[in-house]
Parts: sequence; structure tokens; C-alpha cells
Amino acid sequence: MNYEKLFSPITMRGVTFPNRIQRTSMVSGLSTEDGSVTENLIKRYQREAKGGVGAIVVEAAVIIPSKSPYNLRISDDGCVPGLTDVVKAIREVNREVKIGIQIMQFLKLSKTGWRQKVEDFKTEDLPNIVNDHVTAARRALDAGFDFIEIHMAHAYVLSSFLSRSNKRTDGYGGGIENRMKLPIEVFQAVRKLVGENYPLGVRMNGEDFVIAGNTLSQSAVIARRFAQLGADYLSVSAGSRFEDAKTPGEGNPPDPMSGYSGHRMSPWYWWPDGTHVYLAEGIRKAVRDAGFDTPVVTAGKIREPKHAEEILEQGKADAIGLCRALLADPDWPMKAKEGKEKEIVRCVACNWCLEADSRYEKVKCTRYPEEYLHAPEPFLPKMARPGSFKDEA
Ligand SMILES: Cc1cc2nc3c(=O)[nH]c(=O)nc-3n(C[C@H](O)[C@H](O)[C@H](O)COP(=O)(O)O)c2cc1C
Repeated sequence: MNYEKLFSPITMRGVTFPNRIQRTSMVSGLSTEDGSVTENLIKRYQREAKGGVGAIVVEAAVIIPSKSPYNLRISDDGCVPGLTDVVKAIREVNREVKIGIQIMQFLKLSKTGWRQKVEDFKTEDLPNIVNDHVTAARRALDAGFDFIEIHMAHAYVLSSFLSRSNKRTDGYGGGIENRMKLPIEVFQAVRKLVGENYPLGVRMNGEDFVIAGNTLSQSAVIARRFAQLGADYLSVSAGSRFEDAKTPGEGNPPDPMSGYSGHRMSPWYWWPDGTHVYLAEGIRKAVRDAGFDTPVVTAGKIREPKHAEEILEQGKADAIGLCRALLADPDWPMKAKEGKEKEIVRCVACNWCLEADSRYEKVKCTRYPEEYLHAPEPFLPKMARPGSFKDEA
């Protein structure tokens, strides 16, 4: 078999993932405006599952009822039947892939340019944040997901509590111990609900890439704490903070993707492949040095199977996160396993997909033939639209 490490299974709390490729969470814009599951959203996940990925983290699902157009929701019991359909449909096409969902509370935004900050929550509001995560987790269990990922990265509520930019003065901000308090409360409450036999992962930033944000020094502390608390994996991302976002145009909400930090989350074509591997490696080392064997997932412009295998071989991470690479070619895992690397349709890191997300549009890949919403089946390089951005010197 090609790429032995990449295609070796990994078990978490008795749940076996058939290989080390994790499709990281990717907002699709394919839900209805009020966040319900659509046929297209189901087709997107089925298409990705058919290609042989080991784990799929279904996109950030909103846990509170506040408006957030075209974002998938898990904020109401009425969301469960639609999410159940997603899980069932994925299993119909791939019985081995493990299916998770990312649960997320966002900070509210307004078209006046206002954005909510962690300092805006009253101390008495904080138990609601915990309860909303727990209720969302219960719905995820009801829908049949194999694992849950708590979103503690990027521009959202829990990452903003963790960030050095959190200046709360009520014991939930300031020093790192205080900043971790609410995310820990959320993690422990969700663990209590899901029990000891259910995988519970954490997505976190290795670095915020803003002056007021966390660096690897703080992220290492956070990672060690969640490893100690029994997180089943740590998925290391980066950036996407509001602090250095551009001032939005008249009538537009702030966009966390608009600044340098935002540009780091899904590295563009001018960044080197494996942009964030060093962050995963640093976190993995911190966690291992503290005596924990928590698997670490790395993502960020990993495009070649050989590169993915080397990262694992060199002990820089335990699993490979692919997001845009699988949007471009969901058959990446199968083609790699069968030695058909030349047939992979490569992501060109143009971020056409990400820009669609920022405009609240349907997320698709610029490499698909015109009018396609999902990758054709089969999809070969000769069918792909040319990548207009090659690696740049
Ligand atoms: C359109 C789009 C939507 C994304 N949505 C999420 C999300 O819901 N949650 C999350 O943690 N990361 C999200 N990400 C980040 C990816 O999971 C991933 O970490 C990043 O794109 C780098 O990996 P890649 O180079 O393989 O795409 C998104 C990325 C893109 C391009």
C-alpha cells in the first residue's frame, strides 16, 4: 500500500478512524438561509465521503438561535432530523468514514460595523454559553454523529475567550488561567454529556496572528490543558481574528478574513505548502513533553500525499487535515492510496471558496467545470479549469 502512515487507522475511545485524513470543517453556504439542511448540502458530503477520507467534520453548526444567514444550525431540536439525514446519507456511500460535527457559537455582527466582544457578555450570561454547547452536543448525539468537535479557533466566542485580547475583569479574562476558564467549563460539561466512550475533539489556533492575540507560547499551554482534560484530538488551525480586520465598507459587517490574520487561516497561493505544520509540531511537542499522547491534526495547504506522509513520518502531527484539497478533489485519498497521484485535481489555494463564504454565497471550487456545484465524478485534471494561480516566487 502507498503511504502507509497516512492510511493507517487511528482509534479514539473505541472508535476507529480508517485512516489519518480528516476533512476539516468547511462552511458550505449550502444550507437554507435559516440554517436547514438541503439536498445540495447532503450531496456535498456524500461526494466527499466517496473519495475515501477517514473522518469528516461537518461544518461549524451554530448553537444559538440568533440570525446567521446560510450557516448550518444545531440551535433547535427541529434541526435534528436534517442532521440525521446528513449522517445517514454519508453512511450510505461510505460505511467506514467517521462523521463528526463542529459546534460553534459566533460573536454577533451588524451591518453598521459593530461586532460583539467577549467583554460584552455579562458574568451571569456565561452559564448559557455552557448550556448551549451541551444542548447542541445532545442534538449531535441524537443525529447519530460519531464524534463532536468544539470550535475554539478563529473569530468565535471560545477562541476569543482564550485569546490574549480578552480583557474581562470578572475572572474570565486577563491571565491565561482565567481566559481558559469558560472554554474548560464548556469542554467538561460536554464531556459529561457525551460520556467517556465518545470522541470529543477541540479545534484551536496555534497562533492568532494579531498583536493582541495568542502565539504558540499561549497555545501550547492551552493544548496541554485540554490534553490533560481528555480531549481526544487537537486540531490546530491559525488566524482568522477580527482585531486586524479591515474597516468594513458602508452597510457591511466586519469580515475576519480581511486582515493578515484572516489570510492565514486558509493560506493563499503565495504561502508555502504546509504553512502551519510548525504550529502543530510545536503543540504536539508541548503535549508529548507533558506526558499526553493526544493526537494532533495539522491543516493548511497540504496538497501532496507524499508531503502528508512525511509530516506523519517525521512525527510533526498524527493526522492530516484537508479542507480545500478535498473540495477541489474529493477523490484525493483514493487516488493517493492507489498510486494515482497524477490524477489528483490540485487545489491552487486561490481562495475562491473562502471569498464565496465571506459573501454568504455557495462555496464551490474554481477548478470545477463551469456551473458545477460539486466535483464531477470521476474528476480528472484534464476536466478541471486551469488553476490561474501557480506557486509564486
Ligand atoms: C470556505 C471555507 C470555510 C471554512 N469553514 C471552517 C469552519 O467552519 N470551521 C473551521 O474550523 N475551519 C473552517 N475553515 C478552515 C479549514 O478547515 C482549514 O483549516 C483551512 O482551510 C486550511 O486547510 P486547507 O489548506 O486544507 O484548506 C474553512 C475554510 C474555508 C476555505
